[in-house]
Amino acid sequence: MQFDVIVLGAGAAGMMCAATAGQRGRSVLLLDHADKLAEKIRISGGGRSNFTNIHARHDCYVSDNPNFCRSALAQFTPQHFIAMVERHGIAYHEKKLGQLFCDDSSQQLIDMLDAECRDAGVDRRMGVQIAEVGRNDAGGFSVATSIGTFQCQSLVVATGGLSIPQIGATGLGYRIAEQFGLPVTKLDPALVPLTFHVDDVARFAPLAGVSLDVEVRIGKVRFRENVLFTHKGLSGPAILQISSYWQPGQEIVIDLLPDTDAEAWLEARAGSDQLLANAMGELGWPRRFAEAWLDGQGAHLRGRDLSPKKRRQLAETLHNWRVLPNGTQGYKKAEVTRGGVSTKALSSKTMEAASVPGLYFIGEVVDITGWLGGYNFQWAWSSGFVAGKNC
Ligand code: FDA
Repeated sequence: MQFDVIVLGAGAAGMMCAATAGQRGRSVLLLDHADKLAEKIRISGGGRSNFTNIHARHDCYVSDNPNFCRSALAQFTPQHFIAMVERHGIAYHEKKLGQLFCDDSSQQLIDMLDAECRDAGVDRRMGVQIAEVGRNDAGGFSVATSIGTFQCQSLVVATGGLSIPQIGATGLGYRIAEQFGLPVTKLDPALVPLTFHVDDVARFAPLAGVSLDVEVRIGKVRFRENVLFTHKGLSGPAILQISSYWQPGQEIVIDLLPDTDAEAWLEARAGSDQLLANAMGELGWPRRFAEAWLDGQGAHLRGRDLSPKKRRQLAETLHNWRVLPNGTQGYKKAEVTRGGVSTKALSSKTMEAASVPGLYFIGEVVDITGWLGGYNFQWAWSSGFVAGKNC
């Protein structure tokens, strides 16, 4: 019942940490309340897991202090994880923008991490309920569980965020942080579809399934990817990305024609009899989208109807379409949680809590949220590795 290290949460970060600590000769107990190992790895990337991004850098992360992740990302880089993947003979490919996916199945990564833990002598127990965590008389920690009370010198919290509660996400990590007096920043669903106000739902619901290549902006933050219209609002990679920066009440601005000078395009149709909704097919717009979008601007407009002033106004709206979402689809649909255990309370080199020696927080439970595209797993591997080296 006595271990050097107890890791709570056998997900991406927890398994990486447990294996790394075990390889150093530490006796490690890895506990998880779920019956299945690392469910989020299994469902990630459509079953093929976008397991890292070769461009991972601190400025691809949202946090009160994005600089915090520099040290861990430098100590365990995407190349380090790729080397492990290659050592285990797992085939992978780059899909786009530096995003690496398994050729076959995300299960291969789970098996890889499980094998690393086994080889490092990690004692892993699944289906274990964590009842209470506290300090013991020896200056370490005690963890009371449904299978008994365990003691350890170092306690690593890797219980992840709140997204997808149906596969085991809980707020345990945040509660442990608060129990030990560590600050937790505001928590919100992130990498999440945004929802429309009622009027916009009625207008755009028939467009569910339409996808367009756009640039989405909030302030100076911008993403060039696809937006997808859904029955409830907007989704697709561009929206998931910007959702991590969105605050309630804030407008998002969408450039619907990022590669076209809209005013010049409208000017070229100045004398035309053709309905703009039809002409917009040239720009790659599905007709039903053009009709629905132009509805607010005048669905029956023809090129010849537009004065220079109207052309300028329409072009301005095409490049700066302002959308006011009324919310998100919440943790049930979010890929991650924005916010978490404050980086102010942790060492960026080791992930140890400054005020509670021996207590570590890693992975998504920390206030570090990566962009879409493999950045969140890279944070889990990097933070798990550095804690495993030090705990
Ligand atoms: P993670 O959630 O992986 O692990 C936490 C573990 O703690 C779980 O095993 C859980 O059961 C356990 N736990 C929780 N509460 C507990 C309690 N009370 N008692 C005991 N155990 C407890 N990222 C990326 O980079 N590329 C991708 O392709 C994707 N795709 C993706 C798809 C979907 C649908 C989702 C929801 C998320 C992604 N992500 C992703 C995000 C990625 O899955 C996430 O950032 C990492 O899994 C975080 O790793 P952690 O180890 O911190 O938490």
